[in-house]
Amino acid sequence: MRQLHAAGVSLLAAAVLQLTMVADARGADQRLERGRYLMTSLAACGNCHTPRGPDGASQFDRELSGGPPVKEAPFDAYPSNITPDTKSGIGRWTHAQLKRAIREGIRPDGSLIGPPMPFGFYRGMADADLEAIIAYLGQVKPIDNVPPKSVYRIPLPPAYGPPIKKPIKAPSPNDVVAYGGYLAGPVAHCMECHTPMVKGQVDLNKAGAGGNPFNGPWGTAVSRNLTPHESGLKNWSDAEIEKAIREGVSRDGSRLKPPMGYEYYKSMKPEDMKAIITYLRSLKPLPMGG
Ligand code: HEC
Ligand code: HEC
Repeated sequence: MRQLHAAGVSLLAAAVLQLTMVADARGADQRLERGRYLMTSLAACGNCHTPRGPDGASQFDRELSGGPPVKEAPFDAYPSNITPDTKSGIGRWTHAQLKRAIREGIRPDGSLIGPPMPFGFYRGMADADLEAIIAYLGQVKPIDNVPPKSVYRIPLPPAYGPPIKKPIKAPSPNDVVAYGGYLAGPVAHCMECHTPMVKGQVDLNKAGAGGNPFNGPWGTAVSRNLTPHESGLKNWSDAEIEKAIREGVSRDGSRLKPPMGYEYYKSMKPEDMKAIITYLRSLKPLPMGG
């Protein structure tokens, strides 16, 4: 009897274990699914880390293997190879090391990752989304490529902030403005490009006012004013804003240039698009450039 009972207990234990494994596998699938969605639509790390052709279009067959240089007065920055190649990519980095690198800008050897990677916003990325992005990174095609070393003509800060120790959760999608702000900030860093800079730092009192120049094979593109001001999106319909974000076509029909990330944003879910537009309409109206 005792033996039978023991067998029953171990059968039960086996069943529980199997259920846990099924739940884990399902959790892993969902994580990768979310990661794929974020990386191919909102987060768009490839907008910097994927190579571009001479016309500025992304070369997705070499996804994340090192992007074109970002040249500004204080630096020539070369976006790293972040494929899982074990020699020249991040294949040997642990999950915890990747978390710290992406959100806090610190490599496994303790060195600081330089600008323009938008750590001011990435520090606010929710654990679940960060983990989803890391799951996606793990299954990208490994490519052996060593980009040149970045040159910084300014001293880098010792860190982008104190170590992140507390869990970070995204706002509820039911709080549309807060969730839109989370997507336009920590996830997609729209506000990094579209907010005026003071000494290389975005000035959040002028959130969304635009005016930052971006140079590349496309010439110079200046980020636009996304606030509800006459010189911004005040008189635009939601459909017009959506068309600019998704298709890269402005209200007057002109084509927008990179690095505005419409190559990615075209895959954004309608509810995320709506949240971002609602958030932009909640911004303080400011003239172009603040
Ligand atoms: C605006 C451009 C930009 C964006 C967007 C960006 N990065 Fe970067 N990233 C860079 C640059 C430039 C470097 C190299 C900086 C240096 O040389 O110190 C870098 C470095 C890194 C490194 C360090 C790699 C190494 O070998 O040292 C990791 C990891 C990384 N990025 C991951 C990401 C992920 C994940 C995302 C999206 C969530 C992302 N980056 C978005 C520009 C960007
Ligand atoms: C890497 C920098 C960068 C990021 C990230 C970025 N943008 Fe842009 N955006 C630009 C630039 C530069 C332009 C202007 C392009 C041009 O003049 O051809 C632009 C143009 C626009 C326009 C067109 C406005 C007009 O007057 O035509 C809208 C709307 C817009 N961005 C919204 C967004 C949203 C929403 C996000 C995030 C989901 C975002 N942008 C992310 C750089 C960026």
